[in-house]
Amino acid sequence: MRSAAGAHSLGREFFVDQELFAREQANIFARSWLLLGRSSDWERANSFATMEIGGQPVVVVRSADGILRGFHNVCRHRGATVVDGEKGCLEKGLMTCPYHAWSYDLTGQLIGAPNMASVENFQRANYRLQPFHIQTAHGFVFGNLSDQPPELASALKTVESHLKDWGVAELALGARLEYQVRANWKLLFENYSECYHCPTVHPALNRLTPYKGSDNESQDGPILGGPMNLADGIATMSTTGKLAGCPIPGLDSKQLRSVYYFTVFPSFFFSFHPDYLLIHRLEPQRVDATRVICEFLFHPAVLSDASFDPSGAVEFWDMTNRQDWEVCERVQSGARSTAFAPGPLSNLESIVAAFDRHYRKVMKV
Ligand code: FES
Ligand code: FE
Repeated sequence: MRSAAGAHSLGREFFVDQELFAREQANIFARSWLLLGRSSDWERANSFATMEIGGQPVVVVRSADGILRGFHNVCRHRGATVVDGEKGCLEKGLMTCPYHAWSYDLTGQLIGAPNMASVENFQRANYRLQPFHIQTAHGFVFGNLSDQPPELASALKTVESHLKDWGVAELALGARLEYQVRANWKLLFENYSECYHCPTVHPALNRLTPYKGSDNESQDGPILGGPMNLADGIATMSTTGKLAGCPIPGLDSKQLRSVYYFTVFPSFFFSFHPDYLLIHRLEPQRVDATRVICEFLFHPAVLSDASFDPSGAVEFWDMTNRQDWEVCERVQSGARSTAFAPGPLSNLESIVAAFDRHYRKVMKV
């Protein structure tokens, strides 16, 4: 285990400073590959989902040719947001602005602009919805707002072998949970990065995976984490410790006796279980508020079994999540105090120190 010797937690400003939060949105979230969902979330042609990236409204659509495209959800006329609603189907494959009815097809082309024909030099071709980069990998959809994003493959490199071993491209959604957490997004990353709190905060989790039975595969950079050993007689993380069905096919004996936890900077966590993949997706909303979407992906053979019941895993993680959010919100409350000051990290918090190092490097702070 790498020591966190000398490392201290982040100072108060990192959790309460609005200006710093705005800089994070611009320098981190608007430049990184962010997980936006599963490709199956846009199952049919004309499916759409709206979201915010780096605090900016965007829309992702699947056009008739089957291609997923991402656009800034901002009208080229006078800037109104064009598509409303979180997700759904765009009738006739059009995005029509509710303000003056400029309308765009799902490739972003402006195809209707009432009363503009008489405007000198106006050419519809000059006013496409502005696109951003979308890529798919392992059944996931990722988006990046920067003009020249880095290779997505390099952003996922550290977890690539796990994604392959778990056959994640084939896995499908078995359950979904959603939370509003009144805490800064970094507190959620830091909390996920250590099990020092497990004996006090998660007595049930600590029985399934005793807190000192962990190893760090990746201790530096944008992806951090490693395995925790399942206790004897425990097959997975669930209320009963039993599997929801069969394990993921092809896993080796170590993978069947471990849960692999990784944070992927800056927007999600992967938790590889013997029988499912749990994903926490974080959307920072304000300096002190984060939306979390939790998805459980299972093997299709397990999902199609008439007796499939994910409730053991879902209830276990719902309880554990709520325990985690409570302590994250507790630290956020502490950060309201001018007495809040960086404290020394234990050697069980070396990944917290590694997250903070990477964050400081990216933000140059
Ligand atoms: Fe969209 Fe005018 S702002 S049509
Ligand atoms: Fe926890």
